[in-house]
Amino acid sequence: MKASAIIVAAGSGRRLGCELPKAFVPVGGRPMLDYSLRALAAVEDISEAVIALPAQMLSEARAIVRSAGLEIPVKLTPGGSERQDSVRIALELVGVENGVVVIHDAARPFAPARFFRDSIRAADYAAGAIVAIPVSDTLKRVEGNAIVATASRLGLYCAQTPQAFRRDLLVRAHRQAVENGISATDDADLVERLGTMVAIVEGSSRNFKITTQDDLALAQAVIAAGLPD
Ligand code: CTP
Ligand code: MG
Repeated sequence: MKASAIIVAAGSGRRLGCELPKAFVPVGGRPMLDYSLRALAAVEDISEAVIALPAQMLSEARAIVRSAGLEIPVKLTPGGSERQDSVRIALELVGVENGVVVIHDAARPFAPARFFRDSIRAADYAAGAIVAIPVSDTLKRVEGNAIVATASRLGLYCAQTPQAFRRDLLVRAHRQAVENGISATDDADLVERLGTMVAIVEGSSRNFKITTQDDLALAQAVIAAGLPD
């Protein structure tokens, strides 16, 4: 099944603290957004893309899209005030001909093309599929400053992106979120609330989200090390 892609890149990157919005901060000499676009360009199943951006970055983004060499139609739109708003706004611009929508954070520059492929294919038989990795740390429940319990990490995963969903369900999930005033930090949460099955695709620790300066330094080091995919 063919898929439409949404890249959310409209955040300001407050915790990163750069002058540029986060998706435009250089990583290994290229804007962070460029990495996601190049991954997309290698996925045969994706036939269009919508990118949500800070309104003041539209012309900058147009140049990045041009240099990434995408051969599919790409729409650019200003995002909303929260990530969920940016996804909803982009979703309104997605064409109706594709059965699946795959959403990715520009803040995760190291998602390989196969994560897009695998999540899109899995969304063909489930309601959706998200890239995720098993929790590796020991989890503590804390109240005030004291541990009150050690939680089992059995069966617990950290959600990443890409996340792919059947388009009709994703649209319904976002509509329901607006109606019920629900805010979530990922799209799977909204689709799960429809009572549908969302599958897991094994992700990687390399697919971390750049949030802080430490994450940015790690990303630069990953590139400098020239590690294979
Ligand atoms: N995002 C978005 N629109 C928003 C907020 C976030 O499109 N209103 C995007 C970001 O550009 C990023 C992804 O959602 O690719 C994940 O968000 P996050 O890592 O929180 O990025 P920022 O919101 O930019 O960072 P911060 O929360 O530190 O300001
Ligand atoms: Mg944020």
